[in-house]
Amino acid sequence: MYRQLYQIVLLFSALLLSGCDFSEIFLKQNPSYKIGFSQAMSDDLWRQTMNSEMRRVASIYPELELLIRDGNTNNEKQIQDIEYFLEQGVDILIVSPNESEPLRPVIEKAYESGIPVILIDRRINSDKYTTYISADNYSIGQQAAIYAKQLLGGNGKILEISGLQGSSPAQARHQGFIDQFDEAENYTIIDGGDGGWVKSKTKKVILDDFEKHGSFDLIFGHNDVTTLGAYEVAKEFGSEDSTFFIGVDALPGDSGGVKNVLDGIFTASLIYPTGAKEAIITANQILSGEKVPKTILLNTSIVDKDNAEIYMLQSEKLIEQQQLIENQQSILDNQILRYENQQSYLLILIVGFLILFAVSFFLYRAYRTINLININLERKNRSISRQKDEILQMSRRIKDYNDQKIEFFTFISHEFRTPIAVILTVLYKVKNVSKSISSNQIKILDQNVKRLNLLVDQILDFRQIEEEKIEINATPCDLGEFIPKLIRSFSEIEDKAFTFSIDHSGSTIVLLDEDKLEKILTNLISNAIKFTSQNGKIDIEANISSNELTLKVKDNGKGIPKNEYEEVFKPFFSSKSGGTKYYSKGTGIGLNLVKKLVDLSGGTIKVESQEGKGTTFECMLPTEVLFVEEDSGEERKITDQIKQLPDKGPSTETKEQLDRLASSGSRTHKVLLVEDNKQLNNELVDLFSEHEYDVYTAFDGEDGIQKAINISPDIVITDILMPGKSGYEVASFIKKDSKLNNTIVLILSALTTIDVKKKGYEAGVDDYMTKPFSPELLIAKVQNMLTTRDKIKEEVTDNESLWLSMKTEQLTDNEADFVTSLKVVLEKYCFDPGFNVTSLAENMNMSRVSLYNKIKNVSEYSPVELIKAYRLYIAKNLIIETNLSIAEIGYKVGFQSASYFSKTYKEFFNISPKDYALQNHQAPII
Ligand code: FRU
Repeated sequence: MYRQLYQIVLLFSALLLSGCDFSEIFLKQNPSYKIGFSQAMSDDLWRQTMNSEMRRVASIYPELELLIRDGNTNNEKQIQDIEYFLEQGVDILIVSPNESEPLRPVIEKAYESGIPVILIDRRINSDKYTTYISADNYSIGQQAAIYAKQLLGGNGKILEISGLQGSSPAQARHQGFIDQFDEAENYTIIDGGDGGWVKSKTKKVILDDFEKHGSFDLIFGHNDVTTLGAYEVAKEFGSEDSTFFIGVDALPGDSGGVKNVLDGIFTASLIYPTGAKEAIITANQILSGEKVPKTILLNTSIVDKDNAEIYMLQSEKLIEQQQLIENQQSILDNQILRYENQQSYLLILIVGFLILFAVSFFLYRAYRTINLININLERKNRSISRQKDEILQMSRRIKDYNDQKIEFFTFISHEFRTPIAVILTVLYKVKNVSKSISSNQIKILDQNVKRLNLLVDQILDFRQIEEEKIEINATPCDLGEFIPKLIRSFSEIEDKAFTFSIDHSGSTIVLLDEDKLEKILTNLISNAIKFTSQNGKIDIEANISSNELTLKVKDNGKGIPKNEYEEVFKPFFSSKSGGTKYYSKGTGIGLNLVKKLVDLSGGTIKVESQEGKGTTFECMLPTEVLFVEEDSGEERKITDQIKQLPDKGPSTETKEQLDRLASSGSRTHKVLLVEDNKQLNNELVDLFSEHEYDVYTAFDGEDGIQKAINISPDIVITDILMPGKSGYEVASFIKKDSKLNNTIVLILSALTTIDVKKKGYEAGVDDYMTKPFSPELLIAKVQNMLTTRDKIKEEVTDNESLWLSMKTEQLTDNEADFVTSLKVVLEKYCFDPGFNVTSLAENMNMSRVSLYNKIKNVSEYSPVELIKAYRLYIAKNLIIETNLSIAEIGYKVGFQSASYFSKTYKEFFNISPKDYALQNHQAPII
């Protein structure tokens, strides 16, 4: 783009430049030719006229540069001037030599060096010059003589005063003058001497002649200043009126010869043109290569009283015109100057523009370059920040992976706790209760030890695969026997319906790694169990082709969302759809282990699922069929119904258990056990039954909630991780249900982190106990919690102190009814931290104002104070009656902060709860 712009600007500049005529400027500023004019002197009018004429004419030719040097009537000076011009390399030399002979050599030298030489007015005695311009001085002398003769009429005394005798005009004029006189005539010509063209000198040289002759009839001076000098001398001698005066030059103007003629001082003067104009014209012709004549003669004529006036007028007119021309020339010069200036400005503008353009161009290029650099830098920055992001993401992934690993190992450690808890509970019973061990208890111990073993195996397998230490070791394996046996081991302990089908009825012996197959299938089945509800259905299918075993494990569980298909094979994965981030069952590495084992075996595995309907894992393993037992020569499909459990509905208690529980008539407290591990649940049932509790069981959260609603237990002991609803949800439901607000919730979980406990307390649980637990401690804790609760309940129901603090005088029936309702509402809701005057008014079905008035009628309190007093009086009794800490009592009676409780208590009772406890309590208070 900038290339096109550059071309446009160049074109535009070229057009501008071509539209300007700069030749004028260049000629004016650098004329092509130099003309050197060596003037003899410049101290008289004639020479000054010559110089100015020459300048004027030269100015018309812009290509000419005129240099004038003044010789000051000094031959040496004039020679130097000419040498100077030669050094300067003038193209033409114009010389008006002061004297002929002294100047001749230098003029010849100039001419010989090839410089055209124009002699003007005066000449040298040589023909080494180009041209000579002058009026004919001999003729001037002649005409002067002829005119004199006419004036004198045949006789007379004539004084001739010469110009500088070494100069050619003086010589020629003299010659022309005297040649006109014949000796036979009666004229006496007296030589007045050399006046040197100057008045003062003339006056000196002619004094002798005047003194000698007294007067003359006619005086001829070689120029007008000489003649004027003579007139002045004649005047001194009183002979001026009787003398004719003839001069040469006839310059117009006030001090010129024509004026003298007009004034009657001179009789006549002969015109002697300066030749300046002709010299410049001739110089130009020479420079133009034209040939010029050797001599250019200028016109002359006599000016006397007959034509002086008209000549003067003409001359003045001419001067006027010249002035006009000069003015116009000066105007023209000014305009040329302006034009030149404008041209210069234009040139400066153009140059400036070009510079600007060039600068802009380079700036633009620099900008582009910088831009490019910036773009590159940005690109680099982007790539660096991309890399940074990638590194960050990678480190996040690594961190996530590590977090997951830590979480996994934490979890798996806890996963050990449930079987350990079962084992410990069985051992406790054997040791403390039955003192002997039953075969069922041995079976429970065996299963739980196996469970522990499986967990350990999984961890070790995972680790071995991670470290790539595991190898495939193929051996012959009878699938028809191996797979059903494996499934049976699950069906014996899990309440799911298992089916198995294989496309050969007889024994099918293939070559594969039995250990890996067991692990793959075990994990797939465990996963299916994990995702199916109680009594779910799990179908296992095996198909054999010549070199491939296809295993399908299909469940009718909740399914996996499509976007998690890929994820399920990642380690530590736990489906979001599970509603909890913890692994509800299993280790979280099972499917990852499967994938790795399948990959290791050179097989493939894929998952297909429909949410709400179930999931199928299809695994293809390369194998080699060694032997297939044909059945009647025809392949048929068989279904081995391993086990089909009857659908027992939502309740999981056995009839036996229910009967046992129902018959415990003396038992006062109802315990609801919510625990998905059947064995632990059973053990806990035994434990609490033996300690005189009414025991109820549930095997998942949903069932737990339902049972709680139905039986209103005094205490619910719940696990956290269970299929469906978690223990948190059970606790939260119970604590929010107004009918169950006296039910204690105790969590019994393998999870031990602070977060887990915090979450439990947030859900409203009363206490927390970790697995494995001491059965004695559990029983003791439950008993203590129930005692405390009962105490509080008692206090709440009575709260005598409060009512005693209220009005004692007789209450009206209405007031008594009001107090009764008030007691009921306060008893029910007062310990809810969110309970306030508005809730009280709502529950009493009253406006806040009438509630205020009524409470004021029956007590000394406002509604706010009453709620506070109610809580504080109960707290006061709990301090004495229970072993709860001050903080616990504060929370129990509905305060949200222990310090606020203590402060309010002290303000109300004028003693801090701690001091009150110390004064009235035997047990240590924390
Ligand atoms: C001026 C002048 C003129 C005369 C001419 C002769 O210097 O004296 O008066 O005509 O020189 O060269």
